[in-house]
Amino acid sequence: MDNLGSLKRSHYSAELVSAELNSDVTVMGWVHKRRDLGGLIFIDLRDVKGIIQIVVHPESTDIFGKAEKVRNEYVIAVKGKLSQRSDGNRNPNMTTGELEIIAEEFFTLNDTQPLPIQIDGTAMADEDLRLTYRYLDLRRPKLQNILITRAKVTSLMRRFLDAEGFYEIETPMLMKSTPEGARDYLVPSRVHPGKFYALPQSPQIFKQLLMIAGFDRYYQIARCFRDEDLRADRQPEFTQLDIELSFATQEQIFALLERLMHTIFREIKGIDLPLPFPRLTYDEAMNRYGCDKPDLRFGMELVNFTNILATSEFQVFKSCIEDNGSIKALCIPGGACYSRKQQDHLVDLAKHLGGKGLSFAKVTENGLEAGISKFLSEQEAKSMIEAANASPGDLLAIVADSWDITHKVLAGLRNQIALELKLYDPSAINMCWITDFPLFVPREDGSGWEPAHHMFSLPREEHIPWLDQPDKIGEIKGQLYDLVCNGMELSSGSIRCHRYDIQQKIFTVLGFTEEDLKPRFGFFLDALKYGTPPHGGIAPGLDRLIMILTQADSIRDVIAFPKTLRATDLMNQAPSEVDDIQWQELHLKFNE
Ligand code: AMO
Repeated sequence: MDNLGSLKRSHYSAELVSAELNSDVTVMGWVHKRRDLGGLIFIDLRDVKGIIQIVVHPESTDIFGKAEKVRNEYVIAVKGKLSQRSDGNRNPNMTTGELEIIAEEFFTLNDTQPLPIQIDGTAMADEDLRLTYRYLDLRRPKLQNILITRAKVTSLMRRFLDAEGFYEIETPMLMKSTPEGARDYLVPSRVHPGKFYALPQSPQIFKQLLMIAGFDRYYQIARCFRDEDLRADRQPEFTQLDIELSFATQEQIFALLERLMHTIFREIKGIDLPLPFPRLTYDEAMNRYGCDKPDLRFGMELVNFTNILATSEFQVFKSCIEDNGSIKALCIPGGACYSRKQQDHLVDLAKHLGGKGLSFAKVTENGLEAGISKFLSEQEAKSMIEAANASPGDLLAIVADSWDITHKVLAGLRNQIALELKLYDPSAINMCWITDFPLFVPREDGSGWEPAHHMFSLPREEHIPWLDQPDKIGEIKGQLYDLVCNGMELSSGSIRCHRYDIQQKIFTVLGFTEEDLKPRFGFFLDALKYGTPPHGGIAPGLDRLIMILTQADSIRDVIAFPKTLRATDLMNQAPSEVDDIQWQELHLKFNE
């Protein structure tokens, strides 16, 4: 084994494209691949910026002997002449594909045990094994590039917000419960027996306190912790670009975020996002797409048949109408030729999404045929084709259910069908604002109202008087907004309630008194009474943004050391048991 000694790297591999040919260079990294072509040895040396081919000639027996011994993932340094590859040897798919280094000195800096996973991408191990050896998986250029993009994005965010007059301020990790509404991760206190800190679900309360303190413009690249059920775009520990501004309107916050997103996509992807982003109210999004995070890379909007079929004799529709339900459909382009199996697949999907089923009708030159068409009058069929703007060859997929289920099922089907029919360019970026969310939603058990976002958001100004009108509560829209990208909720935020008189009315609607909330938020409620400026903010999810920028399928690919869907870290085995002394010190007992 050789020592590094005074050896110094002259270039990272990718930098060699701008180095002088025939100059002496020194590179360092890992053996990505080694090919022994009888007389010559070719080594692909990999470093954090790319790969460069090393050629070892047999004449120099000393270095040839070393090169013969190295295996994949040995750590080496090579000094040599930068040369042009011969014609047949060039690789147009590599940045350095025209170049190679003719080795003159060769240093084997370290060897390796046989690797549990392959790095060169020839065979991908299963994800659990890769997560167990995450530090090896992270050697893969694909994952490295994602994390390097992430570093560039956070650096860009800082530069952008600094230039816009924001201050980066850190807020505590050990705190009291936040109002985000997921389950908290708790940390027991050693010095206060029986008491716990909560890890922040977001810095929401602290950023509002910073506005009350007068900082005017705050941001933080903030780690958030939520003990919730995980999905492809959720981690228990994730990062937000948390932003708050005083004396700002929703319009100013939208414009700021649009400039920020425009800068990021231009710098990172070379894409000029068209500004301003389109806007949809929550009601419009629900009616047209069935959900509040519509993917606008394709059309295929929901078609409303509720009125057209209001007097239908078909039992499924009739009982839906009697139950005040909703009959809506998707018009699947070219779907009339779907086989029975393809239709069954959609029905299964509808059931999986919580629906009872799906009705079909084919659009032909002669009107609607097959499926439920025999239960429709000529006029109904004609109106349905018109409403759906359908053409012969299309298929109507109809759901008749409660308003919630009909929209949920069709929104899910819309995304899946568009994916299967390749209705959009997967590399397209489509951002939109969803505005005017309801301020309150009915509690699931029907026992009153709960906040749609959190209880510190302001209603639209014209709806403030409705806080005193019990029959109007469900109609109150909040100054609440989401930024949605390609069907994913990328950010959410609101204008906050800075007036205590209005805040108290909100508590009343939620069925709380100030006394009820004091143990949780007393300090914050007090703070709101001391000259709170009008303020609002937003928090883009950094992990989700990086997923979009790098087209990653899983949120785990954009986090250096992620957790599994079961919230475990397979590499270090967290969460893990702790020893008896720690239980005692923390004054805890395990309740089996
Ligand atoms: P919200 O809870 O909507 O708002 O979160 C804001 C954004 O954070 C991201 N996000 C997540 N990303 C990965 N894993 C998760 N488990 C996860 N949960 C949320 C999403 C989401 O849009 N304090 C408010 C923001 C504000 O009002 O300013 C908040 O936290 O991209």
